[in-house]
Amino acid sequence: MYQLIDGKAISEQVKLEIAEEVKLMVDAGKRPPHLAVIIVGHDGGSETYVAHKVKSCEQVGFKSTKIAFEANVTEAELLSKINELNRDNELDGFIVQLPLPKHISEQKVIESIDYHKDVDGFHPVNVGRMSIGLPCYVSATPYGILELIKRYNIPTSGKNCVVIGRSNIVGKPIASLMMQKGYPGDATVTVCHSRTKNLKEICLQADIIIAALGQPGFLSADMVKEGASVIDVGTTRVPSEKTKSGFRLSGDVKFDEVAPKCSFITPVPGGVGPMTIVSLLKNTLLAAKKEIY
Ligand code: GUN
Repeated sequence: MYQLIDGKAISEQVKLEIAEEVKLMVDAGKRPPHLAVIIVGHDGGSETYVAHKVKSCEQVGFKSTKIAFEANVTEAELLSKINELNRDNELDGFIVQLPLPKHISEQKVIESIDYHKDVDGFHPVNVGRMSIGLPCYVSATPYGILELIKRYNIPTSGKNCVVIGRSNIVGKPIASLMMQKGYPGDATVTVCHSRTKNLKEICLQADIIIAALGQPGFLSADMVKEGASVIDVGTTRVPSEKTKSGFRLSGDVKFDEVAPKCSFITPVPGGVGPMTIVSLLKNTLLAAKKEIY
């Protein structure tokens, strides 16, 4: 029988732990951690995510500031606000919600953030530090995956870990983290992508499969070894008549047929998803404690 990795429950537990630490900080006379979120325009998905982030800050006792710009804000105006936040001593960390309108360079924006305050972990300094194992902010999804692996004590040392997908925000960083010394790491990592040959054979060797390619139902039972652990990072919106919103989230794994072969498996929704906001909170707490130098 497989064990279901309950990301929702773990995320609630981690929030309680963070709230406890915040209480200790405040009791000791410090100000609570402070996160700012910049949002540009009115993208529906982004507005929902930002609302969740602000609400989660409240739940753990952080101060949060939402800074909203209209979609026609100039790049210079946005960069000027970032510069101001970089210098604000009452602010521990901030993020600029992506995607941005086309006339603004996302890369320029990310690189203009002081890496000490880059709690999204998107700045090249943080990405570089992560890849050589220095203290840094790890971006939300890989951080969330590591936390789930730890909390369920999933063995990783010497295990074959296959990552499907090579994106900058999930595939590349999680591959790098899984091969790092220590736990959760010490795995033998293979990264597969759209040009990979023999993908099925490679997956069949895997003790851990991390599916992060964004193709609903891509991983089927015939690609999974008996006893493997499967982490499903897919969150594709597919049309559905059964929900009020008119869509449902679909993972990259055919859960019903894959789960019976697994030791551990994440559901979608309720697996990796709920952990991502918790990662942002964890990074903000690290920032407030000045643990990233
Ligand atoms: N858009 C989708 N996910 C993210 C994220 O983790 N951070 C930011 N800033 N924007 C996003």
